[in-house]
Amino acid sequence: MLGTNGVNLLYLITIVCFVLALRFLSSPATARRGNWIGAVGMAVAIVTTLIKAGVHITWEMPVAAAIGSVFGAVGARRVKMTAMPQMVALFNGVGGGAAALVAIAEFHELAPDPGRIHGDVSLAVLLSALIGSISFSGSLVAFAKLQELIQGRPIVYPGQKIGNALLFAACLVLGAAVLAGSERQSLLWAMVAGALLFGVLFVVPIGGADMPVVISLLNAFTGLAAAATGFELSNNVLIVSGMLVGASGTMLTLLMGRAMNRSITNVLFGAFGQVSAGGAAAAGADGTVRSTTADDVAVMLAYAKKVVVVPGYGMAVAQAQHDVRTLADILEEKGVEVTYAIHPVAGRMPGHMNVLLAEANVPYPQLKEMDEANAEFGRTDVSLVIGANDVVNPDARNNTGSPIYGMPILNVDQSQATVVLKRSMNPGFAGIDNPLFVDPKTVMLFGDAKESVIKLAARVKSL
Ligand code: TAP
Repeated sequence: MLGTNGVNLLYLITIVCFVLALRFLSSPATARRGNWIGAVGMAVAIVTTLIKAGVHITWEMPVAAAIGSVFGAVGARRVKMTAMPQMVALFNGVGGGAAALVAIAEFHELAPDPGRIHGDVSLAVLLSALIGSISFSGSLVAFAKLQELIQGRPIVYPGQKIGNALLFAACLVLGAAVLAGSERQSLLWAMVAGALLFGVLFVVPIGGADMPVVISLLNAFTGLAAAATGFELSNNVLIVSGMLVGASGTMLTLLMGRAMNRSITNVLFGAFGQVSAGGAAAAGADGTVRSTTADDVAVMLAYAKKVVVVPGYGMAVAQAQHDVRTLADILEEKGVEVTYAIHPVAGRMPGHMNVLLAEANVPYPQLKEMDEANAEFGRTDVSLVIGANDVVNPDARNNTGSPIYGMPILNVDQSQATVVLKRSMNPGFAGIDNPLFVDPKTVMLFGDAKESVIKLAARVKSL
């Protein structure tokens, strides 16, 4: 029905949609539009592929698509913002699994005809089966860790690294045998089983705090598996979209690694989990904790020239973003300059704080990324730390013995005064003490962040 040119034109439109979607997704102001454009591109790709392949549509197909769509839509609507990383892990794992299944089916299709599988096709089949399987099982373990179905702490045992390396090497040997011309399907199945096991063993030694980096890495793997599937099926749009996912996943992994001070080698081969939930050694923060009241903080804020809000995971838990916006509006009416300092790994997923503040319609120009924000703390009267902990821990800068030493932080301790809103002296995700809380310039306003911010807004308004 559609000639080659027609198919290629539609695929080109799809690819342009995906590239534009990524472009728009890079800013909270345009992210919704990006999402829609990506969805339209995907719909065009699916319909074009069905037409191109001349697929006879049987009743199972729309039913399967409807079931998948209902799961996706309901899951995405219901998921709590704080559970988004595990949702991404699950969806990513399904993508990797799909790539592996297509590879197995394609091999099954081609194998009975001896000598028919050419090296380039079997290489593509092997890569998508190998990488897709690792991504599938690894993502499921990441999901289980974040969902607390299994322990989030690193599971470490003797000979782990060498065992993993040997297992991976065995998978490569099996793959090489297939590539060398063996069309025994049992070899491919054995490689897939090895890759599934490797995916599990690769992720279990990694602690919960590092899981988003792993999910992003596995996401890049899934992209590569999809691209290999594109070569296998001679489908250009799959090659391009797989590479887009692979490249963006790799870049996100590198950016997160940098923000948490972890190199990619370190992520892949070592020390994983040492900076992890509950697993890190306490750095010890001796000193006096100064607890304060909403009345006192309201006075500090109302008479400040410049206030910097530093949101963290606790703001997400308390869902305080709308009240934070209200407080900022009241302060601005009183002539106070208010900005927000956003750490790249504040919260539990990339862009977590941006999404929450966008939901509360905080004007984007007020959101300052780490470097820009750090340049301003020296002339800030009050830093209002709302449920953030690790991302403002000065030990990352000063204490070489700290497990988070070297992680770039927001230097709130350089402001004239710091107010920290949290419920207790409990540590954050890294499980370590924070000397900021005993800094002579810091006061603590204990309580749920939402309740505290509501009180502050009311008190500031009445001044
Ligand atoms: P955390 O260091 O985890 O600290 C959050 C703080 O919020 C806790 O100390 C907690 O103290 C407080 N809190 C929790 N619920 C609260 C509530 N209802 N009201 C007020 N406070 C509340 O958060 P962060 O500073 O945003 O740092 C993020 C951490 O997660 C980093 O270690 C980062 O490496 C890691 N991480 C980041 C990501 C990404 S990509 N963003 C992903 C995974 C892990 P109380 O219990 O005393 O209230």
